Amino acid sequence: MTSTDLTDFPALVANLDLETKVRLLTGATSFTLHGEDSIGLAPMAFSDGPTGVRGLKFTGGEQVALFPNATLLASAWSEDTAHEVGEMLAQEAQRQQIHVVLGPTINLHRSPLGGRLFEAYSEDPLLTGRLAAAYVKGLQGQGIGACLKHLVANESETLRNYMNSVVSEEALREVYLLPFEIAVDDANPWSIMAAYNDVNGVPATEQDHVNNEVVKGEWGWDGLLMSDWFATKTSAPAALGGLDLVMPGPDGPWGAALVADVEAGAVPESVIDEHVCRLLRLAERVGALGGPDAHRVWPTDSWAPDAPARREQLRRLATDGMVVLRNKGGALPLTAASATSGTVALIGRHAVETVCMGGGSAQVNPPYQVSIAQGLRAAIGDRLTVVDGVEVRERPLPAAPDSISDPVTGAPGMQVEHLDADGVVMLSEHVDGADVTTGFDETPPRPTEQLRLRARLAKGGRVRLGALGTGRWRVSLDGADLGGADLVAGGADPGEGMFKPPHWTADVDAAPGALVEAVLTILRTEPQPGPDGKLSTLSHVLASGMGVKSLVVAPVPAPTDEVIEAAVAAARDAETAVVVVGLTPEQETEGTDKSTLALPGDQDRLVSAVAAAAARTVVVLNAATPVLMPWAEDVDAILVVGLPGQEGGHAVADALLGLREPAGRLVTSWPAADGAAPAWVVEPTDLQLEYTDGVFIGYRGFHAGHAEPPAHWLGAGDGYGSWEYESAELTGTDTGVTVRVTVRNTSDRESREVVQAYFQPDEADQPVRLVGWGTATVPAGGHADVEVTTDARLWRRWDTAAGTWGAPLSGGELLVARGLGDIRSRLPLA
Ligand code: BGC
Repeated sequence: MTSTDLTDFPALVANLDLETKVRLLTGATSFTLHGEDSIGLAPMAFSDGPTGVRGLKFTGGEQVALFPNATLLASAWSEDTAHEVGEMLAQEAQRQQIHVVLGPTINLHRSPLGGRLFEAYSEDPLLTGRLAAAYVKGLQGQGIGACLKHLVANESETLRNYMNSVVSEEALREVYLLPFEIAVDDANPWSIMAAYNDVNGVPATEQDHVNNEVVKGEWGWDGLLMSDWFATKTSAPAALGGLDLVMPGPDGPWGAALVADVEAGAVPESVIDEHVCRLLRLAERVGALGGPDAHRVWPTDSWAPDAPARREQLRRLATDGMVVLRNKGGALPLTAASATSGTVALIGRHAVETVCMGGGSAQVNPPYQVSIAQGLRAAIGDRLTVVDGVEVRERPLPAAPDSISDPVTGAPGMQVEHLDADGVVMLSEHVDGADVTTGFDETPPRPTEQLRLRARLAKGGRVRLGALGTGRWRVSLDGADLGGADLVAGGADPGEGMFKPPHWTADVDAAPGALVEAVLTILRTEPQPGPDGKLSTLSHVLASGMGVKSLVVAPVPAPTDEVIEAAVAAARDAETAVVVVGLTPEQETEGTDKSTLALPGDQDRLVSAVAAAAARTVVVLNAATPVLMPWAEDVDAILVVGLPGQEGGHAVADALLGLREPAGRLVTSWPAADGAAPAWVVEPTDLQLEYTDGVFIGYRGFHAGHAEPPAHWLGAGDGYGSWEYESAELTGTDTGVTVRVTVRNTSDRESREVVQAYFQPDEADQPVRLVGWGTATVPAGGHADVEVTTDARLWRRWDTAAGTWGAPLSGGELLVARGLGDIRSRLPLA
C-alpha cells in the first residue's frame, strides 16, 4: 500500500489495535461517528431522512427544507422525481456537512394501519425499489451516502422493538426483500439500516441469514450495515450476524463486551476487521478518509431552505403527486367556474393548520409551512372565505412559536432553563419553538434533573395551558399554580415518549403578556425488562426519562355544533365549498399504528353537512395513507394532497386551480371498510406477527379475492385528462416482455398518463403483480406511444424446497391498466 491508497482498507485496519477498531463500531453521539486521526478518518455525520435533512438534533435544530412526504412523491410514479429529490436532499446535506442521509424508507404498505406508511413509498415492491434506486442515485451522485431502511419486515410499529415478524422465505424474497434487492442491484446504496424487529425468531440486527447470506453474500453488497437507533441487543450475535455499526453512541452493547468476546474467541478478529473495512469504505465514498487534505470540501454557496428556486421545486413536486380520486362533472379544476369570478368557502382545521409532515424521526424544523388557507388566499384573494373546522386531535399541539415570546429576549419562542440535582441552573437558552428533547440532543449528555419552560402569552382570553412529555409537571400562570401531573408514556416502546407524548392541560382566562411557566422534574426509574422479558439498552433508555418535552398554549375548542353551523352557512353563501379533512401525526407517525381508517373527530359529519348545503363540494384530503370516505358519493370532487411539505398550501392551490395538473396515481389500495384488506392486524399476538398474506400483499390480495374489492386500487387517479387506450401490443418477449400502448388524451387540456403493466400468471398460487409502467404527457386531443419495459425480476419464483430461485414463470397474461379496477387490455403471453 502507498500512503495515498485510500481503498486498501485491510491495510489501514492493520494499523489499529482491537480496542480502537471496536470503538469505531459504535456511534460517538446520537448522529455522529468517531474519527481516527492515525488513519486519516474524519468523524462522519448522519441525519434523518427521508423527507428533509433534519441535522444533528431531534428538536430545535437548524431550519431546513421540508419536502413533500414519501407517498406523495411516489404518487408521481416517476424515477425522475425520485432522482431530483435525492439531489435536493444531497444539497441540504452538504449545507449542513452531513455525510449520510438516513433514507429512503422502503418497507412496504402491508396493513393500511401502519403508522409509518407515510414515510415509505408503496405497497408494491417494484415501484418502491425503482423509486428507491433513483433516489439513491440522486443522493450518491452528489457524494452523499444513502441508507436503505429498515431491513427487513418492519411494516408496522406496534411493539416494533420486541415483536417477531413471521414471514415465509418466499414472501421475504419475492416481496419484502425485493425493494432492497432492486436498490442494491441498480444503485448500490452505501449503507443500510437493520430494523428493530425480529425476523423469524432472530433480531434483524443479528440476522446472519438476511444480512450475511443474502445481502452481503448473494447480492454481493459491499456497504455498511448500521443498526436502527438503540436496536442492537447483543454483542457477539450481532457482530457475527452481519451488523457493522451500532447506533447511536456513545454507549451501547458493543464496546468492552465485544473486545472481551474477541479475546475469548467468541468472535474472530477478522469479523471486526471486516466491519471496520466497510466503515472505511463508506468514509472513503463520502470523502471522510485520507486525512484533512483528502477530506471533502463542503460547498459554501448552498441554497437556503427558503431560496426561491427551492420553493419552486418543492411546490412543483408536491402538486405532481396529488391524486384526483373523483371529479364529477369536471368540478375540478376550479379555474373556469370559480377562480376568476366565483367565491370559495374553504372549510376545515386542515385548511388553517395544514399537516405538512408526518410524525417521528422524519420530522424537520422548516423555515415556514404554507397552510392551504394561505396558499389559496394568495391565489384568489378576497373571493375566499376561510372557516375553521371541527377538532381533529386528541393531544394538544406544542405552542405555535408566534403565540408565545421569550420573557428574557422578547423573541418568539420560549426560555428554557436546565437545572441540576442541586437546583443550580446549568444552562439557560432561548428556543425558537416550544419543544426540548432531553437525553438525546445534548453532546455530551447533560445531567438535567429539572427543566423550566417560560414564555409570555402573545394574546389574552380563554386559553388552554399545559405540557407534553413524560415526567412530573407543575404549571403556573403569573406565579399562580394551575396544577400538574406525573405523566408516563403509554406503551412499552421508547418511541412513545418521543412520538406520542402524554399531556396535561387546564383551561384558564389569561391577560396578554401573562407569564406561563411549566416546570418538569425528570422521573428516572429502575430499568425494567421489556415485554420480551429482557433487560436491554431500551430498558435503560426508557428508565432515563428521555424524550420530547413541550409547552402547550392553545385555543380552547369551540363546540362542534357551532363549528358545523358556521361551516354550513359559509358553504351556502359560496359557489364552491372546499372542505379540507385529514389525519394528523397522531395517526401518521413513527412509533405507533392506527386502529381505524376513519377520519378522526367529527370530520365525516362536517363533510356531510357541507355537502348537503353547498352548490358544489370539493374535498381535499390532507393525509398520506388510506382513509374511509362514507360521504364520497355525496361530494363532487376528491383531491388527495398527502403531507405536502413546506410549500403545501401553494401546491394545493395550484392543483385546485389547475395551474398544474395533480397527475398522481395511488401508491396503495384504499380499503372500502375497516378490516377489508388482505392484511389488517398490526398488534402482535404473544409478540408474534404472522405475515399470513404471504406474497398476496395489497392489490395482489384484493385481486385474488382475499378481501372485498377496495374503494380505490393502487394506480388509480384521474388527473385532469381523460384517456382512450387505442392499442396495446407486445413488442418483445425474448429478453424480457415489453409492451407498446397507444393512448389518446380525449380531454381539452394537456395531461399526463401513467400506463401500468401487470403480469397475471396462470398458476393459482401466484399473485398478479405490477411489472412495469411508463408515462406520457400529451396535449389535448393528442396521442402517444408509451413503451413499457417490464422487469424480469418479477417473473422469478422462489423455490422453497430447493432454497433458491426456481425456473422463471411463463405463460399467463399481461394486463394493461389504470389500476386493476380499470383494465384496458389483456395480452396473452406465450
Ligand atoms: C427510526 C429510524 C431513524 C432513527 C434515527 C429510529 O427511531 O426508526 O428510521 O433513522 O430513529 O432517528
